[in-house]
Amino acid sequence: EKGGYEHFMLKEIFEQSKSITASMRGRVVADKHRLHLGGLTEYFNRLMSADRIMIVACGTSWHAGLVAEYLFEEFARVPVEVEYASEFRYRNPVIRENDVVIAISQSGETADTLAAIELAKSKGAIIFGVCNVVGASIPRATQAGAYIHAGPEIGVASTKAFTGQITVLTMMALMLAHRKGTISESKFREFLAELEKIPAKVEQALKLNDQIKYISDVFKDARNFLYLGRGYNFPVALEGALKLKEISYIHAEGYPAAEMKHGPIALIDEEMPVVFIATADSSYEKVVSNIQEVKARRGKVIAIVTEGDTQIKNIADHVIEIPKTPEALTPLISVIPLQLLSYHVAVMRGCNVDQPRNLAKSVTVE
Ligand code: F6R
Repeated sequence: EKGGYEHFMLKEIFEQSKSITASMRGRVVADKHRLHLGGLTEYFNRLMSADRIMIVACGTSWHAGLVAEYLFEEFARVPVEVEYASEFRYRNPVIRENDVVIAISQSGETADTLAAIELAKSKGAIIFGVCNVVGASIPRATQAGAYIHAGPEIGVASTKAFTGQITVLTMMALMLAHRKGTISESKFREFLAELEKIPAKVEQALKLNDQIKYISDVFKDARNFLYLGRGYNFPVALEGALKLKEISYIHAEGYPAAEMKHGPIALIDEEMPVVFIATADSSYEKVVSNIQEVKARRGKVIAIVTEGDTQIKNIADHVIEIPKTPEALTPLISVIPLQLLSYHVAVMRGCNVDQPRNLAKSVTVE
């Protein structure tokens, strides 16, 4: 059942080129310049006329929601707020009839997310679900949505669901942008073609497994980790830190790289590994300066960079090269080495990666 892998988590990490393909199947047809998510059709007009989109989710799904914020704002030019379902539901939030809520949940059973949906519904908002488990409570409570079709996720730490969620949310944002005319036809076509190339690039990133295993061995005894990224890679930094915490029990924090100087920089010494997601994108030079600041304080730098990078190679302690993709699609690739890093560190520390202590696969109590 683990398909020859030692753990479900590793199997699910390695399944991601297949599961992302499944998320796009019948939806993206790049050579015909077509993108269609059938489950959105009935309420698509509400999405078109939404004054804002509110995303509610927990944990890893909330991180996927943060990526979606960048996507929907950049492409569809609609304001987005991303909320922890548990905070949203108890805050007496302002919800108007022209708001659209997107609820993201792998299990479709998370109690706080379900309650946030019911609250928003009672105020007249339309709810779209982005779920994995077919027929679960959340997809039944939402009026519209799209399944991610990642297949069963057994490992408690979410991996392929995260990339499936981002794939679906990317398709939603592009479909909306195309209909609204906020993306040019040529850019739209380019993104469909780039989306189709993602599974092969994920496959390529998975080949880094041995290198990452080596790096994991170097840092397995660290007591803390810092994860830093900007823009689309900021949520990836949060996700990398969460993965490590959950399964290896090492304290880790994710931060937007520019926030480092407002506090976390005080933590840096020769004992502190800092994982930078430093791909060749619009904030590259700024992230390079952050790496220099960490090195100046003798921190240990592990950098996820774009293939062919030369600048960071000279300053970082370890460099992990991932295939190039447009900035907006980077999270689908840059998260892969972070999943593998947390996996190997946890295994080397003797942790039960598929069933970490104190955690359940679906959180049906608040
Ligand atoms: C992280 C993890 C949790 C879940 C969270 C939401 O690896 O598994 O943080 O992401 O409990 O669960 P769903 O997506 O099922 O609503």
